[in-house]
Amino acid sequence: MDKFLITGGTPLRGEVTISGAKNAAVAIIPAAILSDGICRIENIPNIADVNIICKILYQMGAGVRMINEHTMEIDPSTIRTGCVPYELTRKIRASYYLIGAMLGKYGFADVSMPGGCDFGGVRPIDQHIRGFEALGAEVTVDGGRVIARSDGLIGNSVYLDTVSVGTTVNLMLAAVRARGRTIIENAAKEPHIVDLANFLNSMGADIRGAGTDVIKVRGVQHLDGTTYSIIPDQIEAGTFMVATAATGGDVMINNVIPKHLESITKKLQDAGAIVEEFDDSIRVRRPGRLVRCNVKTMPHPGFPTDMQPQFAAMLSIAEGTSIVTEGVWDNRYKYVSELSRMGAQITVDGKMAVIEGVKELNAAPVKVTDLRAGAALMIAGLVAKGVTEVEEIYSIERGYETIDVKLNSLGADIRRVSGLVAETAKAE
Ligand code: EPU
Repeated sequence: MDKFLITGGTPLRGEVTISGAKNAAVAIIPAAILSDGICRIENIPNIADVNIICKILYQMGAGVRMINEHTMEIDPSTIRTGCVPYELTRKIRASYYLIGAMLGKYGFADVSMPGGCDFGGVRPIDQHIRGFEALGAEVTVDGGRVIARSDGLIGNSVYLDTVSVGTTVNLMLAAVRARGRTIIENAAKEPHIVDLANFLNSMGADIRGAGTDVIKVRGVQHLDGTTYSIIPDQIEAGTFMVATAATGGDVMINNVIPKHLESITKKLQDAGAIVEEFDDSIRVRRPGRLVRCNVKTMPHPGFPTDMQPQFAAMLSIAEGTSIVTEGVWDNRYKYVSELSRMGAQITVDGKMAVIEGVKELNAAPVKVTDLRAGAALMIAGLVAKGVTEVEEIYSIERGYETIDVKLNSLGADIRRVSGLVAETAKAE
């Protein structure tokens, strides 16, 4: 397994371009199953989770053709139902979108329970199942598989008990070809929900209200092929913003939608960074000291949970005591013990982390526990004294396209070594 060796201490400077959004891509690619034509999807990030979802579609019989590194065509006409590969499906969370898409198109789905980041607590899918049932599907969970079938889904009103991104996506997928109108209340409002609705509407779907908490889907009988470009990744952009502020750098981050970054921008300003917005770029500088601030994660437009670990890494060197509260997941602090190895002073109590800012972090060997935790450890490595060895970087590459290359282009010193080379270097 490869590792990153990060020599810290250099402020990031220069320009970087953000890739397409992971969480939009992993919803839009399975959504192409619903089409009656060929879908050309552009601005796809080249990351492991996307590669896996594409492999799954290919193994299901879909035509999947890469036009270039970031553009692909999907022809779902040759898909065989009942053929969702078990091992690959277990590897990623987004594979549960195959349930909504297959059910919506063929009235049948047999998909293994999804995998994805392990935050240390459960990641239930009860809301998804309840939603499918409300549309008339019969759903059973048996032996680690979710089997959903219906003789024709019928629109209905569904109120989500929890604001859930995955449930909102899955219900849109199931409802888009159902008979009649589906109303999803208390829906998630994340940018990728809007992106998925735009993609489906570009095929001829009738979805209104995406981006608000009531989404109305009027079912249609036919969906055409389309050409669609995925939005930039809000969380990748936020990660570069925080890395810049943490290192005291000055970076122009291109290919972003500043509106999607507002909650991150606001908190960075509270912490002492200067953020300037342009049409499709954002400049972050941090000339003075970082200062404490409190952060509470919430569904969009609140501060994103997927930025919580990166922010905590930055606040660990801010002056004063910061309080971070996780408002989406029961537990998302597995990375704290790794940051503590580098000298961070963080105490976790349930959903709350109290961070006493320290003057500096020191390099240590650390292990990545999940995707955003990995990004946090990289940020810590960029500011730490010495060479931080980041192990198990596979999780980082699930969601960040060439993060080491992009950071190095901003002046970072990150070497990627194979596990074996790193062991030999240590022995010497
Ligand atoms: N929830 C339930 N029941 C359900 C579904 C969700 O109780 O049936 C709860 C969850 O336990 C959680 C809350 O609802 O407490 C929100 O979960 P949500 O369904 O919104 O999360 P998700 O769809 O599984 C997506 C992203 C995550 C991101 C969350 C929250 C994808 C593939 N994943 O997960 O992204 O943290 O929304 O914004 O879109 C990441 O990119 O690093 C990542 C983990």
